[in-house]
Amino acid sequence: MYKLAVFGNPIEHSLSPDIHAQFAHQLGLKVDYDKILAPIDEFSKSAQQFADEGANGFNITVPFKLDAFNFATELTLNAKTAGAVNTIKIINDQYIGENTDGIGLVNDLINNLKIDLKDKVILILGAGGATQGILLPLLNQKPKRIMIANRTASKAEKLQRDFSAYGNTCGFGLDKIKDEPVDIIINATSASLDGKMPNIANGCANGAICYDLMYGKQTPFMNWAKDNNASIIADGLGMLVEQAACSFEFWTGSKPDTQAVIEKLRR
Ligand code: ATR
Repeated sequence: MYKLAVFGNPIEHSLSPDIHAQFAHQLGLKVDYDKILAPIDEFSKSAQQFADEGANGFNITVPFKLDAFNFATELTLNAKTAGAVNTIKIINDQYIGENTDGIGLVNDLINNLKIDLKDKVILILGAGGATQGILLPLLNQKPKRIMIANRTASKAEKLQRDFSAYGNTCGFGLDKIKDEPVDIIINATSASLDGKMPNIANGCANGAICYDLMYGKQTPFMNWAKDNNASIIADGLGMLVEQAACSFEFWTGSKPDTQAVIEKLRR
């Protein structure tokens, strides 16, 4: 029996227990995957308690990914560059921190949406934690260039400097986005949460693949992409399932079939 959970605050609406139950069923594994609401300033206490109860690992969602980064005793390269941890595997007294968000996005783009990232020009909107979490896995696919555009230009410039060793990146303000098509646009801002779409040049979406990391509803970014002739428009539901699959494999060594789970959640 694998003893697992997801920590967050709030956590009530998390789809993770359902997703992991489907993975366990597919693979014939016994998994007990719980939802744990940790008090905002008591993540490490709650996590330690769960570990002491014999847990094999856990996922971490908003707002605890940085706390989990600090809680981990070891970090994968992905987790280090992301500066955040969404998955911990427990081996004896070791808490190994991983971040599967970016790999989940890449797997959704490549395997589900059939998009080859090699030599593509990618524009990322936003330069917060979500962007930092996806940059290394995207750069590992050898795109031609990743442009990071942010409302606060200095944050985009900082990410550009931090990731320049891993590939061709540039960083600038949203107002510097050119009115000409790119291959892929990823919305990694939290603007959709406020029902907003950043005010940017419309021409960049013409024929582009437009991907919103958010899921669950048609976002203002997705509407903007449709209005501006995007070729493919996707939300982050596939990424959610793919990152869960990577966590599941990290804990159990078994790789689940994600397609069936994505289809079921969409229905
Ligand atoms: P997350 O962990 O989701 O990335 P975050 O680290 O708080 O959250 O980052 C939020 C990102 O969304 C930032 O890039 C933010 O831009 P600023 O750095 O200028 O604050 C961006 N963002 C949020 N609301 C936005 C809006 N209405 N228009 C444009 N960008 C917005």
